[in-house]
Amino acid sequence: MPILAANWKMYKTITEAEEWLRAVVGRPELKRAEVVVFPPLTALHALRGRSRGLGLGAQDVGWAAEGAFTGMVSAPQLRDAGCGYALVAHSERRRYAGEDDRMAARKIASLWQAGLIPVYCVGEDAAERAAGQGEARLRAQVDTALDGLGDELGGRLVIAYEPVWAIGSGTPATPDQAGEALSLIRERVEGRCGGAAAARLSLLYGGSTSPASARGFMEQPIIDGLLVGSASLDANSFLAMLEVMVHA
Ligand code: PGA
Repeated sequence: MPILAANWKMYKTITEAEEWLRAVVGRPELKRAEVVVFPPLTALHALRGRSRGLGLGAQDVGWAAEGAFTGMVSAPQLRDAGCGYALVAHSERRRYAGEDDRMAARKIASLWQAGLIPVYCVGEDAAERAAGQGEARLRAQVDTALDGLGDELGGRLVIAYEPVWAIGSGTPATPDQAGEALSLIRERVEGRCGGAAAARLSLLYGGSTSPASARGFMEQPIIDGLLVGSASLDANSFLAMLEVMVHA
């Protein structure tokens, strides 16, 4: 089944989140895809219990299970609030909150321990790309996160290739560029964690995707799904993407 993940970032009031949900819940296409919404934490409680056919996720997670960490929310707390997933090291967290690959490893481990599915975000920025360092950056992001995790994947892992230059720019990577980056990532994970890891790994592309570009990405055999920001905010545009993905 294709994976369609909606990252709402710091958008939507509770009322707006509920309106979106009303437009989406009950659609038959939900049975043919793994659909996950990452709302702001403030809307989680309102969506929980009404999100039939949809998974819920958090946009970040603390690395410890509990403790004196003001402002953080832990993986067990997220599970308690109805989350099955969490984003880890989204580029906006890396940029504005100083997250790095080592922190990502701790967060991934903590999510696995609580039984949640991490969606680890990686991708090079424009300067790294211009300097021909894109692949090296991806390798480092994957290796450092995996180094902290032991030899086996401790649970299901989703990795999203989100080139920073594509996010919010209106210009996505091409399907071929995304496919190449994700092939490198898959090789890296399998090389490090062995063939059994393959079955536990899903790969997404994210960055300025839209209903118009979704099909091209889904035609790449290596791509399991999309992590969508702005095009997920409007329920109709989100449903249009879902429609394309279940028929691709
Ligand atoms: P975008 O965001 O689709 O608005 O580019 C994607 C993301 O940041 O996950």
